[in-house]
Amino acid sequence: MCGIVGYIGSEQAVPILIDSLKTLEYRGYDSAGVTVYNGKLETYKVAGRIMELEKVLPIDTPGNVGIGHTRWATHGKPETRNAHPHLSSNVSVVHNGIIENYMVLKERLIGLGYEFKSDTDTEVIAHLLHFNMNHDGGKHLLDGLTETIKELEGSYAIAAMCEEEPDIIAFARKDSPLVIGIGKGSNYAASDVTAFLKHTREVIFISDNEVGLLRSDSFEIFDLNGNSVSRDIEIIEWNLEAAEKAGYEHFMLKEIHEQPTSIRNTFAGKLSEIEGTVTLDELYLQPEEVKRLKRATIIACGTSWNAGILGKYLFEKLAGIHTDIETASEFRYSNPILCGEELTIAITQSGETADTLAAVRSSTSYGCRSIAITNVVGSTITRESDSVLYTRAGPEIGVAATKTFTAQLLVLYMLAINLGRTRGVISAAEAKDLIAGIKRLPGQIQKVLDRKDAINECAIQFADKRDYFFIGRYLNYPVALEGALKLKEISYIHAEGYAAGELKHGPLALITDETPVVAIATKGHTYEKILSNIKEVKARNATVIAVANDDDTEIEKYVDVVIRVPSSHELLAPVLSSVALQLLSYYTALARDCSIDKPRNLAKSVTVE
Ligand code: M6R
Repeated sequence: MCGIVGYIGSEQAVPILIDSLKTLEYRGYDSAGVTVYNGKLETYKVAGRIMELEKVLPIDTPGNVGIGHTRWATHGKPETRNAHPHLSSNVSVVHNGIIENYMVLKERLIGLGYEFKSDTDTEVIAHLLHFNMNHDGGKHLLDGLTETIKELEGSYAIAAMCEEEPDIIAFARKDSPLVIGIGKGSNYAASDVTAFLKHTREVIFISDNEVGLLRSDSFEIFDLNGNSVSRDIEIIEWNLEAAEKAGYEHFMLKEIHEQPTSIRNTFAGKLSEIEGTVTLDELYLQPEEVKRLKRATIIACGTSWNAGILGKYLFEKLAGIHTDIETASEFRYSNPILCGEELTIAITQSGETADTLAAVRSSTSYGCRSIAITNVVGSTITRESDSVLYTRAGPEIGVAATKTFTAQLLVLYMLAINLGRTRGVISAAEAKDLIAGIKRLPGQIQKVLDRKDAINECAIQFADKRDYFFIGRYLNYPVALEGALKLKEISYIHAEGYAAGELKHGPLALITDETPVVAIATKGHTYEKILSNIKEVKARNATVIAVANDDDTEIEKYVDVVIRVPSSHELLAPVLSSVALQLLSYYTALARDCSIDKPRNLAKSVTVE
């Protein structure tokens, strides 16, 4: 997904902008560019990686103010002419988001004599800004930008510069993240804080329909009517070290290994084993409201959606709440039947997924109470939900979600226990048992990590296969889905996750001796059922890799390879199995020499529909 950066201060802008753009690489991009003021606006851009940009952009280019961009194509191919910044005479613009009415604006601007050089929607912003600054007696950059965004439909985070006002960067935001960093004698703008964390931890998250400007020693924020907006500065606790690889070959491997810590952070201060309670201070639901709840709807995409399936099972079992799980991209187009008494739970690690935000807005329009489960403090979802439960997993750089997924599972366990206790569905003794199990998880995850060599061997053995199946039942069904998603996204092996009982209704036709089948077979009330499914695929000559408990002495009779995970509370086993499957995917992708942290065609944060 696109990333924008801006710097204004006393230092040379180019090295800072390049460095900031590199920290945003994890968002996924296909081209990059920079404008710097060096007596005039100088713009350099390329299709490709930032290292390609560095080849054309002299690092010692003078100039103390500039903007930069990493682009992920939406309108127009990843070509240099489509890369940002986009120019209109003396104006330069970088933009994240999508301008939905750009064709209408483009025709109007062409009629006014503007010449378009790209296929992008963004270029209309540059020309419209230039027009608005010049047609009516002349306007300053900020006023021109304010007028411009009033004509835009869609989503945007914009940073703009103008040759005649080289001492400011103007910015604007609607439905696309934008944060400014407050330094000493320098200020920053970016799509997310990692871009300037090296320089400052003091930030302001810009809200929708706000515009503003940065000078080297001050900043101003306004609403669309020109009223000054006063905002508190927030201090970001994450330091840059937390976002570095810490000696691991890939961010993904580092993040997999962080899970004992990230899980501990997720539940820190919330669990009472003595009382059998989970305290969620950020949950703004009165006990009476919780008791009255008839239904919950979980909304999410991708990995977060897989977590949501487990959430459904947990809310139904532990809290007695009928729960639907909805794909966010489908939700608002599917005529949802909501009467306002349901609880909406949005799961999104980034807090910026456009489909999830749109679905939450749609459910809120029916008057539903909402809870967001997210990893990113200050992200858009946090401002649109009644309650926010943070996963506290720390920054996740690898595109493939790992530690944020297990942290989401943990929040779902805790929420289900909390609601279940309030509603009297589970007893204190049952809750205590689960809480004790949760507290054991960090140590048990570490045991799975310690077995990575065995998982690596298994991965290498099957790394040349074309297709994989992952099967599981009940709580292990979402684990199978997530295992398949992880494998396909980073190793490019075709992988299907299936509810094991569904195999005989079609997919069994695809099973051959060339199709490894990963069966998640941890102990629980569906154990015997999965053994039957294993026998079904073995009868079709499949090679079966089972994920099974340490104390399972039977499983080896039925399968070819066993990946062992510690025995745990039945409900908690998905966390441990998921970690094992993350390692299986990682080592398979490594054996296939894939681009693990930045898989092709994928972005970390999908902020367009
Ligand atoms: O930020 P979100 O959790 O809303 O992102 C949703 C999906 O794009 C995301 O989970 C995606 O499927 C994962 N990166 C895959 O590993």
